[in-house]
Amino acid sequence: MNPDALLQALRDAVGAANVLTDGDLGAYELDWRRRWRGKALAVVRPGSTGEVAAVVRACAAHGTPLVPQGGNTGMVGGGVPDASGRQVVLSLQRMNRLRRLDADNLTLTVEAGAVLQAVQQMAREAGLWFPLSLAAEGSCTIGGNLATNAGGTQVLRFGNARELCLGLEVVTADGDVWGGLSGLRKDNTGYDLRHLMIGSEGTLGVITAATLKLFPQPAATLTALAACGSLADCLALLRLARSRLDAGLTGFEVMERYALSLVEKHFPALPRPLPGAPWTVLLELADAEGEAPARARLEAMLGAALEQGLVTDAVVAESIAQARGLWHLRESIPLAQAEEGLNIKHDISLPVSAIPAFCASTDAALRAAIPGVQLVNFGHLGDGNLHYNVQAPAGADGAAFLREREDEVNRIVYDAVAAHGGSFSAEHGVGQLKVHEMAERKPPVALAMMKRIKQALDPQGLFNPGRVL
Ligand code: FAD
Ligand code: MLT
Ligand code: ZN
Repeated sequence: MNPDALLQALRDAVGAANVLTDGDLGAYELDWRRRWRGKALAVVRPGSTGEVAAVVRACAAHGTPLVPQGGNTGMVGGGVPDASGRQVVLSLQRMNRLRRLDADNLTLTVEAGAVLQAVQQMAREAGLWFPLSLAAEGSCTIGGNLATNAGGTQVLRFGNARELCLGLEVVTADGDVWGGLSGLRKDNTGYDLRHLMIGSEGTLGVITAATLKLFPQPAATLTALAACGSLADCLALLRLARSRLDAGLTGFEVMERYALSLVEKHFPALPRPLPGAPWTVLLELADAEGEAPARARLEAMLGAALEQGLVTDAVVAESIAQARGLWHLRESIPLAQAEEGLNIKHDISLPVSAIPAFCASTDAALRAAIPGVQLVNFGHLGDGNLHYNVQAPAGADGAAFLREREDEVNRIVYDAVAAHGGSFSAEHGVGQLKVHEMAERKPPVALAMMKRIKQALDPQGLFNPGRVL
């Protein structure tokens, strides 16, 4: 590689102002959790698909690795460069335009750097709904959401980001543009390249635009909080909510007492209804009927849950502001954890029915191995997805705990996940955090197929090397 020649080629491709090499590049080089700090050769900010293709061709000609980056909110270190100073960060943030909203086909085509919240807003302004929702929605991008196949809080009803995407535009490792933005709901013409790219975490191509599915706005959305004595009760409540609310149930989140105590500690101004419950459930009902029948159904379901002793108390938000407040509590958990310092983070997927047994035995195994260990457990129970995070004993340093105990803790947790038929990555992806787990735990035949796909689509290995595989 000749760095000066490459930098000149990049400036020719996107304009000198959009090739950053000096000053503070920390926002691009450090991940959201502040766990991985890399060093980039340059940060390149193309403004169009043609410019992305030119950047890819320039990097390929110089044998230089590229790290695609959207909002840099990823949890597994997939979007930041390594420490070599030889990688180029390809930031999609300038590519944030709406290309087309098609109300008849219920689709929205948008560039990859569009921030999720802005996409939700575009849909809302047309009287429609884009239901992908996560606490990072104010800064994560559609490209990043699709590259990670993000989950979030509406998966129960609408599926992961994958299920919300009808088409993609992608720049390949050769610098060609695949225009797959058809928006068709049916298209069985060979291998589904869209689904191959979704969840590939920037290792197979650069997503430059996407066609997304929209939905009619619900007539009413109601949010409730319920206090439960145990995870088994949360599960029984989920069963009841599913049978009484059917497809109207859009969210079912759980928060363990200690996770909420961190929110209380770091954000004391947030109102905290139903304090002190061992487990708190946040439910959402989105209904095509009006507000009054929806409220009646939700209250009747919660009344039955109280009668059956599944919940000890419950509250239904009376206004949009109150509902936002309840969601704010839930969404503040990752932020409170970040304030608390580093921890050993897990994003696990299990059959929902296995979750109480998994937690009982894994909590006990961790407490026996590390006296005083603190478990920050919360997540998307409706999808069988827990954020089962392991924090150092009180007073111990989080970074040192991570350094010294991560392998041991991961072995305990991931062995138990495997024993219960689960997955070590539910929605955050693999990135650099779980490459070791992939090598160790993914079936060899699956790994071999993935490696052949990677070799075929990126023979020089320049797209996000060292990530996923
Ligand atoms: P980045 O972090 O920039 O990148 C993530 C990965 O995608 C990297 O591997 C990167 O190389 C690749 N990539 C990015 N853009 C492109 C592109 N255009 N083409 C190809 N590859 C690309 N995740 C969930 O699934 N559910 C949640 O509920 C959730 N909640 C969160 C809450 C908080 C507070 C935070 C900080 C994060 C949360 N996340 C959650 C994780 C994160 O927001 C998601 O993974 C999100 O999809 C990442 O989007 P991004 O634009 O920030 O991507
Ligand atoms: C969440 O559900 O809040 C996220 O996935 C973020 C996290 O796990 O910290
Ligand atoms: Zn999550």
